[in-house]
Amino acid sequence: MKQQLNIRQLGPDDEEAFLAGGESWKGEEPDWHTFVWSEGMTHTAHLQRLLDDFHGRNLEPGKVPNTMLYGFLNGVIVGRCSIRHELNDFLRNFGGHLGYGVAPPFRKRGFGTQLFQAGRAHLKQLGTKRAFITCATDNIASRKMIEDAGGDYQDEILDPFDQKPTRRYWLSL
Ligand SMILES: CC(C)(COP(=O)(O)OP(=O)(O)OC[C@H]1O[C@@H](n2cnc3c(N)ncnc32)[C@H](O)[C@@H]1OP(=O)(O)O)[C@@H](O)C(=O)NCCC(=O)NCCS
Repeated sequence: MKQQLNIRQLGPDDEEAFLAGGESWKGEEPDWHTFVWSEGMTHTAHLQRLLDDFHGRNLEPGKVPNTMLYGFLNGVIVGRCSIRHELNDFLRNFGGHLGYGVAPPFRKRGFGTQLFQAGRAHLKQLGTKRAFITCATDNIASRKMIEDAGGDYQDEILDPFDQKPTRRYWLSL
């Protein structure tokens, strides 16, 4: 039987879980765990930054209002989903509305699909009608999630950063 994640935003009691969650991503890009926290930032400042991002206050250049959801399994963070409330030029072409990741030790247990679906539901709740989603063509798991959810294939382009073929989809919410 598949284990259900508790998927939600970080709260005041989650500092330990957040820091431990980062350890599961060691050796990978830190962005997979967080876009906003860096060494030395207090948990209070971290939560404030996330709240400001949600409300679109004092956004860093190139950012749009967004929500970060974390997936907890028995109190342990296994992955996350970043939900962009709107698209800017970059996101409209490459990043899309949703970005999700499951830390290496927790993959292939259905957690990526749960985070993807939670992100989709959150975006719908915010009033978005169609989600734009991209994934590397060779990312079989991500493609499967998007296509199984009913994503309409738009086209394939080259990612400007790593020159990898990237597929683009639209998903009705
Ligand atoms: C992509 C990612 C989120 C998938 O997470 P996950 O928890 O392993 O995904 P799931 O267990 O929900 O698997 C989804 C589907 O893909 C399949 N799958 C998972 N990993 C696979 C792999 N390496 N090869 C082939 N199929 C795979 C699963 O069997 C499942 O199919 P099913 O629904 O028919 O059972 C995870 O691999 C990851 O974080 N990768 C790095 C970050 C990333 O690429 N994020 C996506 C950016 S677009």
